[in-house]
Amino acid sequence: MSTVSEALGLKVHFRLSQGGWNRRSGPVIRAVDGIDLTIEAGETVALVGESGCGKSTLGRALLRLEEPSAGVVRFEGHDLTGLSPELLRRQRAGMRMVFQDPYASLNPRMRIGEALAEPLRVHGLATGRAARHAVAEILEVVGLDPAVVARYPHEFSGGQRQRIAIARAVIGRPRFVVADEPLSALDISVQAQILDLFADLKARFALTYLFVSHDLAVVRHVADRVAVMYLGRIVELAEAETLFMRPAHPYTQALLGAVPTPDPARERARVVARLPGELPSPAAPPAGCRFHPRCPLVMPVCRTDDPALLHVDAGQTAACWLHRRAEAAAPSSLERLGLSHAHPHHQS
Ligand SMILES: Nc1ncnc2c1ncn2[C@@H]1O[C@H](COP(=O)(O)OP(=O)(O)OP(=O)(O)O)[C@@H](O)[C@H]1O
Ligand code: SF4
Ligand SMILES: [Mg+2]
Repeated sequence: MSTVSEALGLKVHFRLSQGGWNRRSGPVIRAVDGIDLTIEAGETVALVGESGCGKSTLGRALLRLEEPSAGVVRFEGHDLTGLSPELLRRQRAGMRMVFQDPYASLNPRMRIGEALAEPLRVHGLATGRAARHAVAEILEVVGLDPAVVARYPHEFSGGQRQRIAIARAVIGRPRFVVADEPLSALDISVQAQILDLFADLKARFALTYLFVSHDLAVVRHVADRVAVMYLGRIVELAEAETLFMRPAHPYTQALLGAVPTPDPARERARVVARLPGELPSPAAPPAGCRFHPRCPLVMPVCRTDDPALLHVDAGQTAACWLHRRAEAAAPSSLERLGLSHAHPHHQS
């Protein structure tokens, strides 16, 4: 397997201007605050977490649509951080974003045909007849009549518009697609169809996805692996089945404990309601484990020491001191063989 997208020690901080003359005095929002993530070719990695935890910022930073404050972002092994605008544009052809609101991502004054041909032109992939041919072909792939090229975005339903936005994202044959809540603005009845389209395109074009979603049923359906974010960090990263069956981080457990409802806003509120206390500001994350003020299992070490992602199980890591013992668990086989003197009372 080859690595498609990679973040190493990635931070994206925003300095908020106070509005006064001293623009350097505002608080620093630590939207992404130290993330390592490797996405392999052909995978779908889902990104979940409460509103404001940094999911969109991470997705954008992986495509270098946000400037990293620290760390490295690579695409297919190329470091994107130090690239000239020309080289960056060349890499950008291979990675695209699909947004929540298809209407916002389509120019209302541009006919569908022009909107779809634009990325081909920008990346120097095709013009004229070749472009028209590619547009007709991609429209068919996403389930639309090629005759729609002469129409405008407002003439379509939300689901059709999302198909157009997706067609625009994949027409240049990217290898990596970041989909940021691509179903959230759609009617429930349409969501399953768009989800099928993502699956179809993945198989057809050998795509790799980062799929941002707060809908855990969707995540369970699409994801090979799931990354759970909290306050700018990944707190758990695991294979989807493992994460849903045996969530290791107390925050993941709280998220999964939330009963899903069809209304995303209510669902979010419910997740938060299950956890004591407020979500702290990303401008001032708590010391030690960032989750400690809300964690039902908090221990003294959690208030002072910041846990890194620790090995929990095959294909599962969690940033939580509860799993420190799992890290040190290897010698326990010696104990079981009676070779350890550490816990004499455990020997029979
Ligand atoms: N351009 C920006 N300038 C300042 N702050 C920003 C900017 N973009 C994001 N933020 C802040 O960074 C934090 C993370 O935002 P982000 O949009 O990445 O979260 P999210 O997890 O995608 O949330 P949601 O689920 O609501 O989409 C938030 O506190 C947000 O207000
Ligand atoms: S490290 Fe401590 S506070 Fe943080 S999630 Fe684990 S038990 Fe809770
Ligand atoms: Mg977002």
